[in-house]
Amino acid sequence: MMQGLDGIVAAETVLSDVDGANGRLVIRGHPVEELARDATAESVAHLLLSGFFADEPGGANELASAIGKAREEVFRRLSAQLEVIASRSPVEALRAGLALLPDGDDFPAALRLLAAPAVLTPAIIRLQRGEAPLAPDPEMSQSADMLRMLSGPPASEASQRALDAYLATVSDHGLNASTFTARVVASTQAGLGSAAIAALSALKGPLHGGAPGPVLDMLKAIDAPEAAETWLAGALARGERLMGFGHRIYKVRDPRADALKAAIEELSKAEARTSRLALAEAVEVAALRTLRRKKPGRRLETNVEFYTAVLLDALGFPADSFTCVFAAGRMPGWIAHAREQELTGRLMRPQSRYVGPETKEAA
Ligand code: ACO
Repeated sequence: MMQGLDGIVAAETVLSDVDGANGRLVIRGHPVEELARDATAESVAHLLLSGFFADEPGGANELASAIGKAREEVFRRLSAQLEVIASRSPVEALRAGLALLPDGDDFPAALRLLAAPAVLTPAIIRLQRGEAPLAPDPEMSQSADMLRMLSGPPASEASQRALDAYLATVSDHGLNASTFTARVVASTQAGLGSAAIAALSALKGPLHGGAPGPVLDMLKAIDAPEAAETWLAGALARGERLMGFGHRIYKVRDPRADALKAAIEELSKAEARTSRLALAEAVEVAALRTLRRKKPGRRLETNVEFYTAVLLDALGFPADSFTCVFAAGRMPGWIAHAREQELTGRLMRPQSRYVGPETKEAA
């Protein structure tokens, strides 16, 4: 029996195709590299959600304006509770915020979910820094507004583009653990909010979307390229996993790693901001060499989380909020999969094989 459901096809989807052998990702007909270069948070949400709701708006521009209004709605609904929510870690706070929104299967419910991480993530970060949350501006794009609500002044074009590249790159990825979770919950017809909260709970773990914070911790601990090899070998000797490496499906390099690296390079070209890119490149080379030596035959390559850490750090997000930004990017994928499950699937109910004690006969 496959303990981790390896190789099991549990759903048919029109949403994304993950080709692990060749390192290719296609999202509704578009290679991830193209989306990372050209798409926005709104255009990728439009791409993923089209056809799944009776009352959806026509084009990407209409969707952008509806998401802007939903950001205002989420802020209005939750502003009184933000301080209580923000007493938890950012990802637990985001989960608590999602849980305070009304559940549903209609487009307004989807819009609230698309807007919520973009509003809540900066608000939680600011409150934890002792600053007041900033209200959303519905006229701005999701990325521009998210960065402004984080820092105050309007973000540069280059920063907005880099955040859009990130959000588009992580928008969907086959039946990963969180998306599978979303589909299981949606298969019971519990509602999109329930599916998204369950998905976020699965995303939170370090074997999935909780990895980029620890990647940044690793880069900070290594600090200089010449220290990388010793530090990494020490971590492996202690039985630790190197965060940002390895993948269940990709046995070659995760194509999202290069898409994100290109986005960081663009950002660094446009703005001479301090980025850990040079250090990260050196650590990546050292990690791949060390993994090949210490884990021969395992085919452990760089995954999406490695350059996620460098990009989100350069954009000013603190490490403990990286999973929340990931959730902002993955939300359209979760919603689209949940709707696809509701519309075309049936209750997901696998079986287990009992290996426990035999029934004891009464003496
Ligand atoms: N560092 C060191 N060793 C590793 C790593 C790693 N990053 N990843 C896997 N291995 C080793 C395992 O220890 C195991 O070796 P062993 O058989 O000698 O014990 C072997 O490689 C196979 O590992 P599995 O557990 O079978 O791999 P699995 O497919 O279950 O795990 C996972 C994939 C969870 C991503 C894993 O590679 C990992 O833990 N990586 C680090 C965390 C990480 O980067 N998470 C983000 C993933 S991307 C995403 O979810 C968006």
